[in-house]
Amino acid sequence: MALKNIFYYLCGIVFLALAKLKNVLMGYSSPKPFDVSEAEKCIDYDIGVVDHWLRQLADYTKGEYSIVGKSVLELGPGSDLGIGLYLVSKGCSQYNACDVNNLVATVPESFYDKFLARLAATSAEVDIPALAEQLKNARTGQPSKLRYVVRDDFNIVSAFGRSSIDLVFSQAAFEHFDDIEATVSQLSEVCKPGAVLVIEIDLMTHSRWIREKDPNNIYRYPGYIYNMFWFRGIPNRVRPLQYKAAFERFGWTDITITPLRKIEDREQAYSGMAKDFTDGESQMEYLTVMLCARKQ
Ligand SMILES: C[S@@+](CC[C@H](N)C(=O)[O-])C[C@H]1O[C@@H](n2cnc3c(N)ncnc32)[C@H](O)[C@@H]1O
Repeated sequence: MALKNIFYYLCGIVFLALAKLKNVLMGYSSPKPFDVSEAEKCIDYDIGVVDHWLRQLADYTKGEYSIVGKSVLELGPGSDLGIGLYLVSKGCSQYNACDVNNLVATVPESFYDKFLARLAATSAEVDIPALAEQLKNARTGQPSKLRYVVRDDFNIVSAFGRSSIDLVFSQAAFEHFDDIEATVSQLSEVCKPGAVLVIEIDLMTHSRWIREKDPNNIYRYPGYIYNMFWFRGIPNRVRPLQYKAAFERFGWTDITITPLRKIEDREQAYSGMAKDFTDGESQMEYLTVMLCARKQ
């Protein structure tokens, strides 16, 4: 085990250095492990993510929540507006999204044509021309049911206003945010009382090869080493119970954290971790989690 830990410790340093170098040379890169030019895969991904959120929402609210007529906020939407299109096609009155990186600017129109064709093929009830109009408005900066905001300060209160949101979704984005306390505090302001939040958080190492071999690799390093490789968007290493504490502090209740992916062998999950991640509170066996909560 000791040799294995040394091996992964050294490998991880190389991956952290490469990630930093890539960020310096190319900026924040496409979050999907495939390019939007692979349109059908991206469409499958977006639809899969929303369907998964909706199943989690139904479980959390015991089927008593409808998204129809709701104002939705997605944080860190990634590389295209497919998720917004799909949510509006399902009856959300407004889709809002906020990011610090403008990743959707370069999406070709043909991607959305394919997305709309998929929606037309899978549901006769969707008003495709109306949806296309909303998309066109969004892409030309006109008022639209699809509102995509890029703000370097990630200030969602300034972006969307107080008490304007019924439902919050996010996928594999919270682990990139600079300041979880500030984001949760602002979420409490933009959400209406009773608003529901469904977010999936990817706690794993993000670099591709090492992610599958050593999913907890980023937790092997003390803060002073990890911070040497810091760039905006590097995983923040916030653990599930720290998210829970932040949501509790800012007025959220009924907080559930469900592990979606785990390391079954607890000893393996903790082996070689830096001191900050060795107590049971760190829940190092959790690799990805779904956090649901309700605003008081
Ligand atoms: C891994 S991507 C996930 C994107 C999308 N939800 C998906 O599942 O494909 C992370 C998202 O968080 C955003 N992000 C990265 N760093 C951020 C930061 N410091 N503050 C806010 N958003 C950030 C990225 O621009 C991107 O949209």
